[in-house]
Amino acid sequence: MENPQILLIGNDPALKAEFDAAIEGVRRWHPLVHHAHDRRQGVELARSRRPDIVVVESPSDCDALRSLATELSVAAPECQVVAAYRRDQFEGEQSESQFLIEAMRSRVADFLRRPLSSSELQETLDRTLNRAQRDSARMGKVLSFVSNKGGAGKSTISVNTAVALAMRHPGEVLLVDTSLQLGVAAMMLDVAPRTTIVDAIRESHRLDETLVRQLAVQSDCGLHVLAAPPDAVEASHVDDEGFSRILTLARRAYRYVVVDTYPMLDAVIMAALDLSDLVYVVFHATVPSVVGNAHFIDVLRKVGVSQGRQRVVLNYNFPKVTGSLRVEDVVERLGREVDHVFPYQKRLLTALNTGQPYALKAGRRFGFGKSLHRLVEEIESLPGANGSSVEFRAQAGGRVGGEVLA
Ligand SMILES: Nc1ncnc2c1ncn2[C@@H]1O[C@H](COP(=O)(O)OP(=O)(O)O)[C@@H](O)[C@H]1O
Ligand SMILES: [Mg+2]
Repeated sequence: MENPQILLIGNDPALKAEFDAAIEGVRRWHPLVHHAHDRRQGVELARSRRPDIVVVESPSDCDALRSLATELSVAAPECQVVAAYRRDQFEGEQSESQFLIEAMRSRVADFLRRPLSSSELQETLDRTLNRAQRDSARMGKVLSFVSNKGGAGKSTISVNTAVALAMRHPGEVLLVDTSLQLGVAAMMLDVAPRTTIVDAIRESHRLDETLVRQLAVQSDCGLHVLAAPPDAVEASHVDDEGFSRILTLARRAYRYVVVDTYPMLDAVIMAALDLSDLVYVVFHATVPSVVGNAHFIDVLRKVGVSQGRQRVVLNYNFPKVTGSLRVEDVVERLGREVDHVFPYQKRLLTALNTGQPYALKAGRRFGFGKSLHRLVEEIESLPGANGSSVEFRAQAGGRVGGEVLA
């Protein structure tokens, strides 16, 4: 994070000038700075820009500061709020130390004393950005399953992955079904959701970790599901901003967040991609599908999903016949390795019709169950997941993303 985004909120022209001068002298970071003149504009910018740090011109009144900090953390849950104050702004009874103690009880992460100096700003940025990085390592992992065509196996593999994870971490896994047409996750899991992702969007202004958990429906295996909108009209309420918010909060409430998507690269899916630790690209073994996917993978890279975050999943969703593409053929046509291969499993159909996901009974030694197990282990070995460390996994020799060990 060499170029953190900082949002400065305050209408005192002197503060802006001080800040610009102090930033000049900061060596370690090269922040991108946005400026808002008032609270309303500031909250709006926080929501749309999702800055790492928000520096606010602090009111002397702690209640006012607290309410601003709370509003900011609702608008941009990941941001760290820093209050800039002047010693001489406290009068009469109120002392600086009283103010600091009270302010620290609110969502204010740090303070800057004015007039700002480069060295103090540097120190505050060090502390705050390091804290932000630690926080983000502690957050739940987001895994998205995407494809450029329907019928590739996204729902099958994402639902089974979520179930397999939930069996190992009951109550700590959320499956988000974003399907715009007809969500299948609830059906596949035989749960009847009373609330859906649309309710989460509607409650956006007061959405927090607790509410996200309350809006999810629980399945017997310990998996929580945020169901798809009931129809396309309802689905039109789902926008990228609301969806980012849901995912950001879900990461705080769950250890793993699995996102089933639909075959489109619209703003909502892009928001999911932005927040994903790993993006699984699912496709099946036909020539058009492989060719389409080579292109799709390239597009993903162009929209910012680096190869280190991508995983290529070849899914044999129909029985092998003469002339079926072998894995080697796919690798050659694709021009890159395939990370996971799921074989055909005819019992997936029974699972679909009975609402008993295959993962519930799948073994780990052969076929689909073995592939699923490998994928789950890959997810569990992400840095920060399960509290395991990068060093441990390097010693264990497990295959982890290039990004991780690089
Ligand atoms: N490995 C597999 N073996 C057998 N059937 C599969 C497999 N993967 C998917 N299917 C079946 O293929 C169909 C499409 O899968 P689905 O997960 O709904 O695709 P998507 O969500 O990408 O549209 C479903 O009927 C599913 O049961
Ligand atoms: Mg689907």
